[in-house]
Amino acid sequence: MEFIRTLLLVALVPATSALDNGLLRTPPMGWMAWERFRCNVDCKNDPKNCISEELFRDMADRLSEDGWRELGYEYVIIDDCWTSMQRDKDGRLQPDPSRFPRGIANLARYIHDRGLKLGIYADMGTGTCMGYPGTTLDKIEIDAQTFASWGVDYLKFDGCNSNAIEQMMGYPLMSKALNSTGRPMAYSCSWPVYVGGLPPNVNYSLLGDICHLWRNYNDIQDSWDSVQNIVDWFTTNQDDVQPAAGPGRWNDPDMLIIGNFGLSSDQARSQMALWAIMAAPLIMSNDLRTLSNEARAVLQNRVAIGINQDPRGVQGRRLIQEKSHIEVYWRPLSHSASALVFLNRHQDMPYLYRTSLSKLKYQTGGYKAYNVFSGKTVTDLTDATEFTVSINPSGVVMWYVYPAKTSKPLQVRGMHKSHRIASPQLQKDKMNRPFVL
Ligand SMILES: *[C@@H]1O[C@H](CO)[C@@H](O)[C@H](O)[C@H]1NC(C)=O
Ligand SMILES: *[C@@H]1O[C@H](CO)[C@@H](O)[C@H](O)[C@H]1NC(C)=O
Repeated sequence: MEFIRTLLLVALVPATSALDNGLLRTPPMGWMAWERFRCNVDCKNDPKNCISEELFRDMADRLSEDGWRELGYEYVIIDDCWTSMQRDKDGRLQPDPSRFPRGIANLARYIHDRGLKLGIYADMGTGTCMGYPGTTLDKIEIDAQTFASWGVDYLKFDGCNSNAIEQMMGYPLMSKALNSTGRPMAYSCSWPVYVGGLPPNVNYSLLGDICHLWRNYNDIQDSWDSVQNIVDWFTTNQDDVQPAAGPGRWNDPDMLIIGNFGLSSDQARSQMALWAIMAAPLIMSNDLRTLSNEARAVLQNRVAIGINQDPRGVQGRRLIQEKSHIEVYWRPLSHSASALVFLNRHQDMPYLYRTSLSKLKYQTGGYKAYNVFSGKTVTDLTDATEFTVSINPSGVVMWYVYPAKTSKPLQVRGMHKSHRIASPQLQKDKMNRPFVL
């Protein structure tokens, strides 16, 4: 019954492309509080890690001073638990006064001054997932206006505590309301998660019209099991979700957990590689103040980022799932290039995998392959060449493959060449600066 009513309502909501405002032509990159810092509001006992303006200022400092911003990591995103338990006397959301004493507009200025952008969180429903004030249908307009007035650049709109009918109305309404503010804001919709993630309950064409990105599936947790579970969902359902992605419209398998407690070094590289293949948002949730050099190197890998940010914006797919527990992922890129990921699903043994590019459906011809994590280039490759990759347990080998005839130096677009860029203005031409492999 519920399902049929849902379908009827899909047809009733007027088609709108209210949010085609040119934002997120490549997947967003940045940092979000949730997976690492959750709903820690105990600033008395844990002042460095509680959800407060200090935490977001600290992360903005790190993003702007440690080379992240120049690589494209630009959004600093607040998740749940930032508000006071009551709206103000005019019905507006307000930050918790003890944890955000200077207010959100002030935090936005701090973040903008560092060449970064501010994201915020709200929930389509009677309350947020953690029980803070929600955004019911009658509050959508005022909340969009409030966010715009503060200088917010990105909204994550969660969906706890609402039903399918309210979501069906609320997500498009918020899209319109954001557009009506006149302030360009990126719009992340959690809607699909709440209706099962798949057609016919989810209309990916409509989502692409109204949202820049959307969470399709469960929240990520700090473990390899969680990463695998998410990747399995996206690949099992790739026929439904992969075509939905493109410039300005992205599937979101959730945050990068690299640098936390749950992943080994190999698993960290695997998450980075798979998120690049999936054209996923690269939104870290970790502690940038204490990040290991190893995690930093993975997250700042320029070629992995370049693959993720490829301007064609075609999401990759799993090509092969072997009985030997090896999987091969592929993503087509600009300049006749492509990315390959060989993933070893054994957690306890390395694996030698033998194949050729022709077995992976490459056309006849000569190729070169740059190994994204070792930095070595394989030359003398033709479609027919049999080669062997050695893949660590729960690890990957990731290749950037390009035609041998491509004149050198090969250019991967999507990032700055230099780490030493001071002016926030330069962020604007992020997409125009070639990266030389
Ligand atoms: C509002 O929507 C129109 C039409 O899609 C678009 O041209 C414009 O850039 C949008 N404005 C904002 C602020 O999102
Ligand atoms: C999905 O949404 C689009 C608008 O983007 C609409 O044209 C189409 O009819 C919808 N499909 C279904 C099955 O409701």
